[in-house]
Amino acid sequence: MIAIACDHGAVALKEAIKAHLTQRGLEYKDFGTNSTDSCDYPDFAGPAALAVASGECDRGIVCCTTGLGVSITANKVRGIRCALLSDIMSARLTRQHNDTNMMALGAGVVGEKLALEIVDIWLDTAFEGGRHQRRVEKMMAYEGK
Ligand code: RB5
Repeated sequence: MIAIACDHGAVALKEAIKAHLTQRGLEYKDFGTNSTDSCDYPDFAGPAALAVASGECDRGIVCCTTGLGVSITANKVRGIRCALLSDIMSARLTRQHNDTNMMALGAGVVGEKLALEIVDIWLDTAFEGGRHQRRVEKMMAYEGK
């Protein structure tokens, strides 16, 4: 189950991602927003991140105009490692090396085609473990400090 959320700046991108996930046979839980009326991105990215942190959802994808606000919000939640992505290489490496459980996209930064390619690579790439496990553990030791 994939948590998905956006603010008013990325509703169309969220809909495109939802359609893509459905096409792939993947389930999602939509945390909103579903309107282009101005809203506050933490109200949507926060609950999506909590759902990933609690285990209700396996991964999360959050979107806003830049991807910044939603990624920063998600990374405030204990247990979340959210990568703001705009290229294919980072999508792959953040799974292999950082074991990210959430990703963020900026609807004003990446076009829909690239966004969906990034989603696919991020979803399909496994964590490598090994020395990266040690680094992730050191990273997470800073949580809450
Ligand atoms: C909303 O105007 C904009 O600030 C938001 O979508 C996001 O880009 C914030 O980081």
